[in-house]
Formats: sequence, structure tokens, C-alpha cells
Amino acid sequence: MVRNALFSCAAAFLLASAQALEPVYNWGGPNPSNLQLEIYVPRNKAPNPALILALHPCGGSGQQYSHQADYTMEAEQLGFIVAYPTATNDSNCWDNSSPRALKHDGGSDPTILNNMVQYLVGKYNVDKTRIFATGSSSGCMMTNVLLATYPDVFAAGSCYSGVAAGCLIGSPGNSPTTSDRTCANGKINKTGPEWAKIVRDMYPGYTGSYPRMMTFHGTADNLVFPPNLDEQLKEWSALHNVGFTMTAQNQPQPGYTKIVYGDGTKLMGFMAQNVGHTVPVHKELDLMWFGITQGRV
Ligand SMILES: *[C@@H]1O[C@H](CO)[C@@H](O)[C@H](O)[C@H]1NC(C)=O
Ligand SMILES: *[C@@H]1O[C@H](CO)[C@@H](O)[C@H](O)[C@H]1NC(C)=O
Repeated sequence: MVRNALFSCAAAFLLASAQALEPVYNWGGPNPSNLQLEIYVPRNKAPNPALILALHPCGGSGQQYSHQADYTMEAEQLGFIVAYPTATNDSNCWDNSSPRALKHDGGSDPTILNNMVQYLVGKYNVDKTRIFATGSSSGCMMTNVLLATYPDVFAAGSCYSGVAAGCLIGSPGNSPTTSDRTCANGKINKTGPEWAKIVRDMYPGYTGSYPRMMTFHGTADNLVFPPNLDEQLKEWSALHNVGFTMTAQNQPQPGYTKIVYGDGTKLMGFMAQNVGHTVPVHKELDLMWFGITQGRV
């Protein structure tokens, strides 16, 4: 029994590791911050696949994040594509702060990431209603920014240990050493309507709805402090016009508290007791939240 389990685990590992990420060079458009892109396209790609854009933390890379947030086995089973881009500037942090980043088609990382997405949509016939973003730390901050600046592109986001879109406005950089620490230290406290205005001002012509958001934070996070969870929840609850409904203890596991807004389909938070930076990726919840697998988070 144990032997069989070990064997199938090893076989699965060999199968997964045989499937390397594939570099992509020609997605088009200016690339001033020199982002890079690697993708995982399963052998069993669906004819009209979903796409997950998975964003690494500061100091990371697409390769690194494909281990931290490894959706490749599920991609193989379910036919979706995963894109693992890499930031190379400012200690490999995403630009979550510059005026060009916090603006639809402003030209910085969100625009470049959207250019990657649009290239993959065309090349692999991606289902435009099933494009998702996820990330950890700086990658979670960028998930917030992407959902704010390209709400018409992304259907949903999932986010580990980041900050609200716009929290880093005015910061001179994006890494722990180059940024203004006020936001990460949890000292920026705005109302939902104030956050919603900041987000709407990033894409003034946009009148549609905003992507669904699920976001996690640890109570013992002393790099990106826990008040940032509440700021994100205020931001997305105002954008979705859904209020706090209830908390559920020990969901999805002991020590985690699920924070439900509205009917739980548009906005969900998770506070992980005594978990530091960052909350581990919960890929089974991500896939459920995205609607790639069945069931409710
Ligand atoms: C690289 O990061 C620094 C902040 O640390 C920023 O001033 C500079 O504009 C960035 N360069 C590009 C090309 O994005
Ligand atoms: C944020 O401000 C509100 C209103 O002034 C206050 O009730 C709340 O306690 C503050 N939250 C934090 C984390 O400082």
C-alpha cells in the first residue's frame, strides 16, 4: 500500500518533471521592464482552454513559482494553460506602484502582462471568459493591480499575502528595500468607497463589472502586515457592492477563518492564524474559485 503510493507519487513526479516550462519570446509590444515568459501547455490541451497567469513573489521567477504554485499536474488532467512570467527589475518585484502601472494601458508591467495574455489567447484559442490571475506577495499585489486595470480581461483572481490595488501609489520602488513601507506595514487605512474610486480612476472609461476575488493572509505576517487583508476586502467589496456576510472558523483547515462577502461567489477572504509570509498556495481552492473544477469554496 505504502509502496504503491510511493511508486505512483514518484511516477507522477517523473511525468510532471518531464513536462518542462516552455519559453515564449514573441508576445509583442514594448517590454521596458524586460519581463520574461514561460508557459505550461499540457499535452491534453482543451480546444478552448482556460488560462491561469501565475505571478511569483519578489526575488522569484517563473521557474521558481512553477514549484511554489504548481498547477501543472492539474493542467495535464483538465487541459488548461498556465503562464509563469518573470520580473527582472527591482529585485524581481512586479511594478505595483508607478503611475504607468496603476493605469489601464499605462505601459508598465500590467500592460506587458496583458500583452502576454492576449498573445496566448490568440495562439491557443483560450476561452476569453476563463482567464485568471493568481500570485504570492508581490505577485498577489500584481493580481490586485491586474484585476483593477484589466477588469475586462480577467474573470477572477486568487491572492496570497499582498496588498490592495493602489496601496503602493507614490512609492519609489516595489521591493522590501526600495519601497515606501507605509503600505506593507499596514498603515494605510481607507474606506471601501475611497479604494473603489482609486481603482475606477485606473480605468476611467470602464463601466463593466469587476473580477471575482479570493484573498489569503497570515496573522503572523511581519513583512506585509495583516491589516492589508482588510484593505483588500474593503476595496473589492465596494467594487462588487457586496457586504460582509459571515465568518466560518477552521475553513478550509484548522486555524484558517473564511470571511464571506455577499453570497460568497464574488469575494472571499481567508485569515490564516499564526501563518507568516506567505500563506501557502491552496491550488485546489484556486481551481474551484476559478470554476475550473466543480464545487464551492
Ligand atoms: C526598475 O525599478 C526601479 C525602482 O527600484 C524604477 O525606478 C525603474 O523605473 C524600474 N525600471 C523599469 C524599466 O521599469
Ligand atoms: C481604519 O479607520 C476606521 C475609521 O476611522 C477605524 O474604525 C478602523 O479601526 C481603522 N482600522 C485600522 C486597521 O487602523
